[in-house]
Amino acid sequence: MTLSIVRSVSALRVAIAAFRPGRVALVPTMGALHAGHLALVAAARGAGATHVVASIFVNPTQFGPSEDFDRYPRDEAADAAALAAAGVDLLFAPAVAAMYPGGHATTVRVAGLGDVLDGAARPGHFDGVATVVTKLLLAAAPNLAVFGEKDWQQLAVIRRLVADLALPVEIIGAPIVRDADGLALSSRNAFLTPGERIRAVTLPQALETACDALREGGEVVTTLAAAAAALVTAGFAQPDYVELVDADLRPLTAISAPARLLAAARIGATRLIDNIAL
Ligand code: PAF
Repeated sequence: MTLSIVRSVSALRVAIAAFRPGRVALVPTMGALHAGHLALVAAARGAGATHVVASIFVNPTQFGPSEDFDRYPRDEAADAAALAAAGVDLLFAPAVAAMYPGGHATTVRVAGLGDVLDGAARPGHFDGVATVVTKLLLAAAPNLAVFGEKDWQQLAVIRRLVADLALPVEIIGAPIVRDADGLALSSRNAFLTPGERIRAVTLPQALETACDALREGGEVVTTLAAAAAALVTAGFAQPDYVELVDADLRPLTAISAPARLLAAARIGATRLIDNIAL
């Protein structure tokens, strides 16, 4: 089955109107789809969506000037085939000019949550994410939208902006999907050389080891330092962060519930992120 593709906000609204009174889910992506994205589609169905709309938009405003916007993998035909096979009803695949028409001047900024961790390492990143997600939610006006828990901070930023702007949408977080060896699926894994791919598994392993140590009473600062050292030993650059945080992404120096362990580190030219519940 071929998937219907719309490229303008007006065409998106017309197509979604035809799904009403159904329960519409939006699954925003930047393409280069893998099983983790298809799990978001399944999560949408699991949450009772009668119609699933996916979007593919490599959003320029969430990439820094020296980041990988230009080389970000793009293969719309393969992505559309995968979405059709997963039962997606509609694909929104706008050009940059459709999302950011000339004169575009509005930015959505989530202060605090968007400034720490990845926000500190990638200044402006979450302004771009918050802006495009707000625009996608306003364009599609879905009943629910699904985002992966691999981008834990992104999910927190999106939940905050939806609450703050009183957007009438339910936000659903879908669990991380991992390769057999534990590496979280990511479109950026395609950038890893075979040697880096083997060593990349140290990232989830270091988080697991740190989690075990913390559960057994290990001291937080030394445990996090040991995880960072394990990454460097495996060939990662010094991590941007290895941090234990609470639900508001505030650093914890002792375990309290709910706690999440997050890390971001670069191996070769590829920056990987991961997180795990304690
Ligand atoms: O997680 C992503 O793929 C992107 O950050 C998102 C949410 C589609 C916004 O561009």
